Amino acid sequence: VNRVPLIAGNWKMNLDHLQAIAFVQKLAWSLADAKHDPASVEVAVFPPFTDLRSVQTLVSADKLPIAFGGQDVSEHDSGAYTGEISGAFLKALECSYVLIGHSERRTLHAESDEQVAGKVAAAIKHNVVPIICVGETSDDLEKHGPSAVPVAQLKAALAGVSATADIVVAYEPVWAIGSGQAATPEQAEQVAAALRAELRETLGEDVAAKTRILYGGSVKAANIAGFMREPNVDGALVGGASLDLNEFSSIVRYQK
Ligand code: G3H
Repeated sequence: VNRVPLIAGNWKMNLDHLQAIAFVQKLAWSLADAKHDPASVEVAVFPPFTDLRSVQTLVSADKLPIAFGGQDVSEHDSGAYTGEISGAFLKALECSYVLIGHSERRTLHAESDEQVAGKVAAAIKHNVVPIICVGETSDDLEKHGPSAVPVAQLKAALAGVSATADIVVAYEPVWAIGSGQAATPEQAEQVAAALRAELRETLGEDVAAKTRILYGGSVKAANIAGFMREPNVDGALVGGASLDLNEFSSIVRYQK
């Protein structure tokens, strides 16, 4: 199975809607200069919700080879949920993807495995591909070893997912996020392989073979190639470095 690598930029709470337009336009120019082929590497950005309309207008008017998505989604369709954004709203703005269960949501907003599963089901229901984020803290790593917590989080997130679903998994060790201390490619591969085995067990061989597993946590231009050489790592979820145009463009243009 040929899994098209995905390089995803999670802007977190950075860049307002005007800055977003400028950034996406420059990114598109940079990709065009580099004769970027979207069939060889898919590029996606995850702006704050308030930027999505601006990004959609630019991307669809100019047919830019950049996908985009939300950083979170509600598990509910509509109603009295102040501050929440539904999967239908994301779909209406042509979001291809949505991040779900990022460690900052799990930690700072106390998102449980059950809520993550509800959000994954909501995204799929509205035809937005969920990027299911999993990862262990350094404490977890010490107590349970490298794969146990990420695999358990993935298992829980897949509760409402069918064997035909289109999903992406992002492995982000919490200790590597924003720390400058990336996992080694070997560490990332070990957990990615365990996550793929979990996909195989829960959803079957077809989903396991086609699902892209990303690595995230202090990815930059200088270390991306090592991750991309690993057989079970199919891309990256980039935080800090996705806000630097040159750095992000270089990550997209990685050479194995
Ligand atoms: O979603 C992205 C991750 O949290 C990684 O962030 O690249 O700044 O370490 P980082």
